[in-house]
Amino acid sequence: MNIRLELLDKPQWRALPETDEPLPFGQLRTNHMFLMNYRDGAWTDARIVPYGEIALMPGATCLHYGQTIFEGAKAFKHDDGGIYLFRYEKNCERLNHSARNLCMPEVPAADQMEATLRLLDIERDWCPNMPESSLYVRPFMFATQDSLGVKPSAGYIYCIMLSPAGPYYPGGFSNAVRLLITTRYHRAVSGGTGTAKCGGNYAASLQAQEYAKKLGCGQVLYLDAANRTIEEVGTMNHYHVESDGTFVIPAFNDSILKSVTSRSVLELAEMGGLPLEIKARQETIFLDKFIADVKAGKIVEAGGFGTAAVISPVGAYLLEDGTEIAIGDGRVGPHSRALYEYYANMQIGRRPAPAGWLRKVEKYG
Ligand SMILES: Cc1ncc(COP(=O)(O)O)c(C=O)c1O
Repeated sequence: MNIRLELLDKPQWRALPETDEPLPFGQLRTNHMFLMNYRDGAWTDARIVPYGEIALMPGATCLHYGQTIFEGAKAFKHDDGGIYLFRYEKNCERLNHSARNLCMPEVPAADQMEATLRLLDIERDWCPNMPESSLYVRPFMFATQDSLGVKPSAGYIYCIMLSPAGPYYPGGFSNAVRLLITTRYHRAVSGGTGTAKCGGNYAASLQAQEYAKKLGCGQVLYLDAANRTIEEVGTMNHYHVESDGTFVIPAFNDSILKSVTSRSVLELAEMGGLPLEIKARQETIFLDKFIADVKAGKIVEAGGFGTAAVISPVGAYLLEDGTEIAIGDGRVGPHSRALYEYYANMQIGRRPAPAGWLRKVEKYG
């Protein structure tokens, strides 16, 4: 792919703040972004330009009918000074899965990878080397055709932006969240867009999220609308831990996002031979059985898996009838902590990672 460079002589933002304070999550930007346009059935004009506004016609399809998709991944600075992208091929594949789900054009995975590596090379000084920090990578695509008919757009923009990010929990991995189990709201239904990372899924989750907040809960655990099986959290897959230390993740169906973190945990368990012994499996989990097993002490820990926090432990669940169900002693459990420590250290190169999971950002030219 031919990438045109239009780089700033003088950066609009200085480099990373020199501070020992953790960086905020999702707030900071770097100086440049990658852009590419889809016109007449082909991707054209790949370029890296200063981070800034993007002009859109008011009739652009994305603004009216939500034809927008995105991804989230992380690059880490290792002790050798190099920057490494974690399992980004999985994000490239999933972006194309989301594109197919929303009748958008795919971006060849090799082009997504090349564009991201090139942007990361240019912005390498923005990758923090503080503990639990990363350069968050946010690729996204949106529909640009100025047309009010409800149909797939003829034009699109694909963009990659970067955000230097600190730990998701600035206070450390210590606060277990309280989750609301709701039957009032549903994130996605079979046959819909649940397996896609599309804007509409997140817009649709805001109302439930606000409802949870009012009830004193950090997030929502969604159930399958028909079967009352556990689906996922608004921005994470769900897991629980059985008393023998096995992590159990709801079986993927056509309304759950296939988390790269969940899949990595399952693959680590299958591979074995690591310094940390991980046991994990997937199965369909019925809410009533889940609650009975928590009460019987068969389920000792629970939480969420996702790129942003890696693991978010759950301390308690609230049901809509006001019943509160604590998990274990309501605090972060040893299995969740051990997995978190292994996974986070693997990403920064301090624990062995399976071959190919970390890709070095080479210096270009
Ligand atoms: C709905 C949803 N489920 C699960 C996840 C976790 O996926 P991943 O581990 O790929 O970040 C996310 C975040 O990306 C999400 O938004």
